[in-house]
Amino acid sequence: MSMTFTPLTPTIAAEVAGIDLTRPLTPGQVQAIDDGMDRYGVLVFHDQHFDDESQFAFSRNFGPLEISSGGEMSKPGEMRLKLEMADISNLDADNKLRAADDRKRLGALGNQLWHSDASFRAIPAKYSMLSARIVPPTGGNTEFADMRAAYDALDDATKAEVADLITEHSNAYSREIIGFTRQDYGAENQDKLRPVRHRLVRHDPRTGRKTLYLSAHIGAILGWPIPEARAFIRDLMEHATQRQFVYAHQWKPWDFVIWDNRTTMHRARRYNDLKDIRDMRRTTIRGEGLTAEQAQEAA
Ligand code: OGA
Ligand code: MN
Repeated sequence: MSMTFTPLTPTIAAEVAGIDLTRPLTPGQVQAIDDGMDRYGVLVFHDQHFDDESQFAFSRNFGPLEISSGGEMSKPGEMRLKLEMADISNLDADNKLRAADDRKRLGALGNQLWHSDASFRAIPAKYSMLSARIVPPTGGNTEFADMRAAYDALDDATKAEVADLITEHSNAYSREIIGFTRQDYGAENQDKLRPVRHRLVRHDPRTGRKTLYLSAHIGAILGWPIPEARAFIRDLMEHATQRQFVYAHQWKPWDFVIWDNRTTMHRARRYNDLKDIRDMRRTTIRGEGLTAEQAQEAA
């Protein structure tokens, strides 16, 4: 059986058939997936019956795993899953639905903002890998936007304007959009909210293409007044998430989706999380370097 890639839109995402990812992979298969990621940014696999251990084993083919940010901000005993498994569910440590005013539920609503995973880290994430264990009957799609196509479609004046800009990213900025304040995190977490610096335009050495590195975590542009920066970032976001750049994934149980955080953004869509279980588990591959020399100073 060999892997086949079927594009899902003209620019972003492909469905991959002909491979069982829960079994050990050959180096050739790992390479084919990496090549597919470079080409499509998002790969969709069906019927991948992962448990947490087989998801870890598969994921480690692509680099070291990140500790989830939820894990970093939680107290021991609050966690349902291991530290390297981001819990993208509406369940608590006892596998019960979280209540309307549950702090983790409210924080997770930030996933409904367009973002790139871990862009608030000095070395941000490479791939994210999301396994659907239980999905709600309606809602809860994940949408992906193509940041290479979005860059290409900018007019020349805007390309020149963004070329050398450095942005500041923090979890505090994205959470501020949905109404959290710094005080909501407690004194012990304040240093994790310190902004990090990234290039707004990243160069993708594997494909030679440029990509707009946007994320809800951006709150400032170096050297710009804050309101002007926010207005410009909002404009770019609007441009970059037009329908022609977006693939919307409607989940089935045991779907497995990999996305490249360097070349795409994504967001969760609403579902009835007070009633329906959605149990998704994410492994995240660490990035390979800084996006800006200046990032070092801010880190
Ligand atoms: C994530 C994420 C979106 C979703 O796992 O990083 O943003 O639809 N998920 O759950
Ligand atoms: Mn995410």
